[in-house]
Amino acid sequence: MMRTHLCGELRQDDIGQEVTLTGWVNRRREHGEHLAFVDLRDHSGIIQCVVDNTVDVRSEYVLAVTGTVAQRPEGTVNEALPTGQVEVVDAKVEILSVAEPPPFPLDDRADDVDEMVRLRYRYLDLRRPRMQRNLRIRSTVNAAVRAAMDRQGFIEVETPMLMPSTPEGAREFLVPSRQRPGSFYALPQSPQLYKQLLMVGGIDRYYQVARCLRDEDLRADRQYEFMQLDLEMSFAHIDDVLAAVEEPVLDAAEAVTGVRPDTVPRLTWTEAMERFGSDKPDLRFGMELVELTDVFAGTGFKAFSAAESIKGIKAAAAAPEWGRNKLDNLTDHAKMLGAKGLVWMKVGADGTLDSPVAKFLSDDEIAGLVKTFDAAPDDLLLLVADDWMTTCEVLGDLRNQLGRPPVSEGPYEYLWVVDFPMFVGIDEATGIPKPGHHPFCHPHPDDIDKLESDPMTVRAWAYDLVLNGWELGSGSIRIHDAELQQRVFAVLGIDEAEAEARFGFFLKPFEYGAPPHGGFAIGMERLIAILAGEENIREVIAFPKPQSGLDPMTGAPTEVDDTQLAELGIRLLPPST
Ligand code: AMO
Ligand code: AMP
Repeated sequence: MMRTHLCGELRQDDIGQEVTLTGWVNRRREHGEHLAFVDLRDHSGIIQCVVDNTVDVRSEYVLAVTGTVAQRPEGTVNEALPTGQVEVVDAKVEILSVAEPPPFPLDDRADDVDEMVRLRYRYLDLRRPRMQRNLRIRSTVNAAVRAAMDRQGFIEVETPMLMPSTPEGAREFLVPSRQRPGSFYALPQSPQLYKQLLMVGGIDRYYQVARCLRDEDLRADRQYEFMQLDLEMSFAHIDDVLAAVEEPVLDAAEAVTGVRPDTVPRLTWTEAMERFGSDKPDLRFGMELVELTDVFAGTGFKAFSAAESIKGIKAAAAAPEWGRNKLDNLTDHAKMLGAKGLVWMKVGADGTLDSPVAKFLSDDEIAGLVKTFDAAPDDLLLLVADDWMTTCEVLGDLRNQLGRPPVSEGPYEYLWVVDFPMFVGIDEATGIPKPGHHPFCHPHPDDIDKLESDPMTVRAWAYDLVLNGWELGSGSIRIHDAELQQRVFAVLGIDEAEAEARFGFFLKPFEYGAPPHGGFAIGMERLIAILAGEENIREVIAFPKPQSGLDPMTGAPTEVDDTQLAELGIRLLPPST
């Protein structure tokens, strides 16, 4: 190596040693008539070097510096720097590269720089300590999950990036075929179909740190390209899959934070919805949904008497902060989410209620309400009356709005949500149920006889892992029996011919002896972001796409020339206006 040490590792123990360091000029300051301080930076940290001030070095020049480690003179020690007790003196400088002035400061101040500028110069942004740290955490997590999978006897198998288009959920990226103009490959949304075929192939325990591609709207927790720790195992029960998933996740958490979380609690999907109004509840705060249907059993208030379910949440002592305007906005928000309305109540000193609907409620109802909520003066109560699902979902959203800390704050609260419904929602046009996860999930054995008669009550052997209110991953036990698969397809309105056309390549193998199997996939960026204390997965990806999907650094996506298109048999439509 061109260096003997890293900049950030020098300490008082090294005093007297001659060292050679390499790195970038973080800052240069003049010091007296003849000397200059050069703060040299590499990925490990910063060290102050004292150099002859005639050397022409500026910010971000790349240097090799040779000199002697010395104690800093009294009064010049920098407690904020791990290397702040020492400096490199009598330093000779070799310039390895000169540099243009960077377009933004390469330290914490860049956090406030327009993200498009940071992404345009991502290679400079990456020099910053925050990004260095995040990518190193990412590498640590990758290594930890691989080790955990190896230890558990999973083998890593790569699956193709070019596959047929298969309706699996998200919109796919398509790749035109040159040899078969008019035909397209799809990029994998996940290795789902291949990993199940690996089980048919007797691989027994498969894993892959797999790149997945989905053409969806980008958000804080969503990119076009992302990585999954994807796994599948044969002859396993649900508990075996969950245990196999906990190992890499908890190992990774320990590798980054030094703390290994205890066992991960479980809630059924129904409990999660009942108590938190969400299938990915954030357990770092309370504010659980309170069941009020019985309190209003005989009510004369129309909005309540007509409703299937009445629930509420309590924001303790929050009433004074909630003026009329804010409450109106919150009501509009609830309506936007699908609620017919939102009742707010402020609890008064004497147990009375300040609320637009107070006049419609009997004294008994008000007393019952205050008791059920265990409400105290100045509490704000928010009530929704609707069908069960809407009531839960709207209040779950409001709960997050009112109480949720930033993703990265506070303890790590892992949670398994199990027993997801097999079908969610009904397509209004066709009256056909939509799959909860994907059509290959095994129904809960106790519910299989209701598949045709009462599909919406059928639970799936499907489960999610949740961390601080983010869905980290999903999985299920799969259907391995062709006849059961046909029945599920039938509920989904897919007849045999259509199933053959859409999934034939996938279904045929199951006629040759498929083992019972199940699996899971963890969104690696989400896990890494939370462990790194980041709110947006872009911060843990070396070269992410901004929300627009346009890469300001490379210009992608770009137009291609006509000969390339002709080769692919593609002619472009005029741009739509
Ligand atoms: P699912 O579609 O739920 O399941 O994806 C699993 C996990 O992948 C992560 N994820 C994403 N991360 C970043 N950007 C995205 N656009 C994105 N989309 C998904 C999430 C999510 O929980 N094949 C099944 C798994 C299985 O059944 O084994 C699957 O892909 O963290
Ligand atoms: P209305 O009787 O429609 O004027 O509504 C009176 C109050 O009850 C308003 O504050 C509405 O937002 C609220 N409201 C109406 N329907 C519902 C409902 N289904 N759930 C909760 N609040 C409602």
